Amino acid sequence: EAAQELKNHVERAKSVVFFGGAGVSTASGIPDFRSPNGLYHQRGYKYPPETMLSHSFYESHMEEFYDFYRHVMCAPNAQPNQAHRKLAELEAEGKLAAVITQNIDGLHQAAGSKNVIELHGSTHRNICRRCGEVYSQEWILATGGIPRCEKCGGVVKPDVVLYEEALDQGNISRAVRAIERCDMLIIGGTSLVVYPAAGLVQYFRGSDLVICNLEPTPQDDMADLVCACDIAKAFEF
Ligand code: OAD
Ligand code: ZN
Repeated sequence: EAAQELKNHVERAKSVVFFGGAGVSTASGIPDFRSPNGLYHQRGYKYPPETMLSHSFYESHMEEFYDFYRHVMCAPNAQPNQAHRKLAELEAEGKLAAVITQNIDGLHQAAGSKNVIELHGSTHRNICRRCGEVYSQEWILATGGIPRCEKCGGVVKPDVVLYEEALDQGNISRAVRAIERCDMLIIGGTSLVVYPAAGLVQYFRGSDLVICNLEPTPQDDMADLVCACDIAKAFEF
C-alpha cells in the first residue's frame, strides 16, 4: 500500500524536501488545472482561465481579472488535508527541511508548515503597486472592482505569478538550495509541465526520489518510487 511504502522511505531518509502542485489541494476542494475536471477544462467563463491568469489580461481587463481572482483563485473556505498536515508534522519532527509549492492557497502554512517556498506566490499577500502596503486575502475579498490601497490609492495587485511574469529569483535560489541539500525528494500533485518549476528536479542529488501523482508525469522514469494515488491517502501514516 502507498502509505506504508511512503512511510518506509521517509523513515530511511535524513532530510526530506517536498515539491508539490495543485494536486496537493484537490482533497481540500480546490480543483487543479490540467485534470479532466481541472480549471483549464471548465466551460462557462467568458475568457479561457489560462488567458485570465496572464499578465496581459491583468493589464487589459483588470475588472474581469479581479472578479476571477476573488471568485476562483481565492479559496477562503478551503482547509488543509492530510498531505498538508503530515508535511507540517514531518517538519516539526525535524525530518523535513522545506516545502516547495506551486500553489497559491496558503494551505501548507495553515497546516503549520514554517519553511514554505511559494514559487507562484500567494493569494494571502496582495501588494499596493505604488507604496508596497500588503493586504490580506480577507481584505481583498471585501473589496469590489479594482482594489485600491487605503494608504495611497494605488492599485493593490495579488502577489501571484501570472503567465508572462517572472518568478522571484530569491525563491528559485532557496528552492534550488533546499533540493540540492536533501537526500529525499518527494514530488506530489503536479503534472511537472510548467517551467521553471518543473526543472527544479534536476538539482536533486540525493538517493531517494518519490513521485506521488494520480497521473503519470514526464519524470516518473527517474523516480525510485511512484505512487499513483491520492496524495492525501499516501500521507496517511
Ligand atoms: P496541474 O493541474 O498541471 O497538475 C496537477 C497534477 O496533480 C495532475 O497531474 C493530477 O493528476 C494530480 N492530482 C490531482 N489530484 C491529486 C491527488 N489528490 N493526489 C495526487 N495527485 C493528484 O497542476 P500543477 O502541476 O500545480 O501556474 O500546475 C503547475 C502550474 O500550472 C500552476 O502553479 C499554475 C498552472 O498554470 C500558474 O498559474 C503560474
Ligand atoms: Zn499604497
